[in-house]
Amino acid sequence: MRNRLEVLLAGRSKDDLTELEKVLNERSDVRVSTKMFVNGHADPLQDVFPTPDAVILLVSRNWQAELESLQKRPAINRPALLVIGEEGNAELIKVAMRAGARDFLSPPLNEGDLENFLAQLLREKRTESSHKAARLTAVINAKGGSGASTLAANLSHILASSLDKRTVLVDMDLQFGSLPLYFNLSPRTGLIRALELVDSLDLLALEGYVCSYQDGLDIMAATPEDRVTVSEVPEDRVEMLLKLLGEAYDDIVVDVPRWISGATAAVLEHADKILITMEQSVTDLRDAQQLVAVLRRELNIAESQLTIVVNRFNKNHPVTIKDIGGALPGVRTITLPNDFKRVSQSIDIGTPLAEFAAGAPITRRLQELAKSLTESEGQLRTRASRWSLLNWARQ
Ligand SMILES: Nc1ncnc2c1ncn2[C@@H]1O[C@H](COP(=O)(O)OP(=O)(O)OP(=O)(O)O)[C@@H](O)[C@H]1O
Ligand SMILES: [Mg+2]
Repeated sequence: MRNRLEVLLAGRSKDDLTELEKVLNERSDVRVSTKMFVNGHADPLQDVFPTPDAVILLVSRNWQAELESLQKRPAINRPALLVIGEEGNAELIKVAMRAGARDFLSPPLNEGDLENFLAQLLREKRTESSHKAARLTAVINAKGGSGASTLAANLSHILASSLDKRTVLVDMDLQFGSLPLYFNLSPRTGLIRALELVDSLDLLALEGYVCSYQDGLDIMAATPEDRVTVSEVPEDRVEMLLKLLGEAYDDIVVDVPRWISGATAAVLEHADKILITMEQSVTDLRDAQQLVAVLRRELNIAESQLTIVVNRFNKNHPVTIKDIGGALPGVRTITLPNDFKRVSQSIDIGTPLAEFAAGAPITRRLQELAKSLTESEGQLRTRASRWSLLNWARQ
């Protein structure tokens, strides 16, 4: 769940921590982790990564050190703080306020006070995420089978697992898509239903239409029972869905089928970056040129937004990187090594490469590519022009 509040509960008394943990665990919009101070330790945030949204600190007799360790952090890096401590200790309250406490409560806790603190933070978190523009990365192949789905699946996994981005992977290949299998998942409901209901969905309801691989990585795909082709999907529904996803996630990665219709064009037009996979062959290169020309001419997409990913790269192949660069001026070109054994095994067992083959050259390349995506801000571009409906993909 992306709009869940990450709360760190810290203190020295095991019984008090367990009791409060129980209360917080009853809420589906809060995720609690607990840190019990032992011996001389007093810093709630020591070795805690990523920084939680809030710290609830049950201060002990060592309250001075506990609060000072928080006060030492720059205000900008301090999560919201709620301090729970003995009543009537004016010095404690003063130091708590200096450490940035938003509230001070004393046992026995009044559930309403705790509720107010959490509800305010949840409101702030929702507002903050709705003002942020997610990054949209579209992955499309210049020729069938050149690795677009492999790339989309592994990039989204790295964005979530190594780069700590809340990521959703959308499989727009409604007929032949198999992205959930790359994660050993099988959605029971998903993209088609979400598109049907998108005008009435909110962020909470959206959760029913994704399946989660791990915290921070959700997959949205059609189910095998859905009998819809991408050309039947209205583009305005896709735009509404992208907008909603953009409020819930940092990164949206879409596996786009090579059939340019209103729906796929909507994704490509809104994309911050479009990754085009190809292999080294004359026909792949010709198709890549044609695709780039269509994106330029019909969708008004600049070359600077495009990256050609030459997959299964072989430096001895007669079609060289220089040839590819020369045929596609202004388009960034990168390579991915050939590793049939690891890639096919990773797909077969439904485990992404960063888990299955962490140090392999292909995984490292994918990590570099994912990192380079995060170096620019997401825009979720608004449309600059209308496209004419295209026949290109039918050729
Ligand atoms: N770098 C690589 N090294 C070796 N094999 C690869 C590599 N990338 C992809 N493959 C293999 O190529 C096959 C096709 O990959 P993938 O399904 O990702 O392509 P696609 O472009 O999405 O194809 P489709 O047109 O079916 O959508 C997969 O079976 C995968 O094992
Ligand atoms: Mg594919």
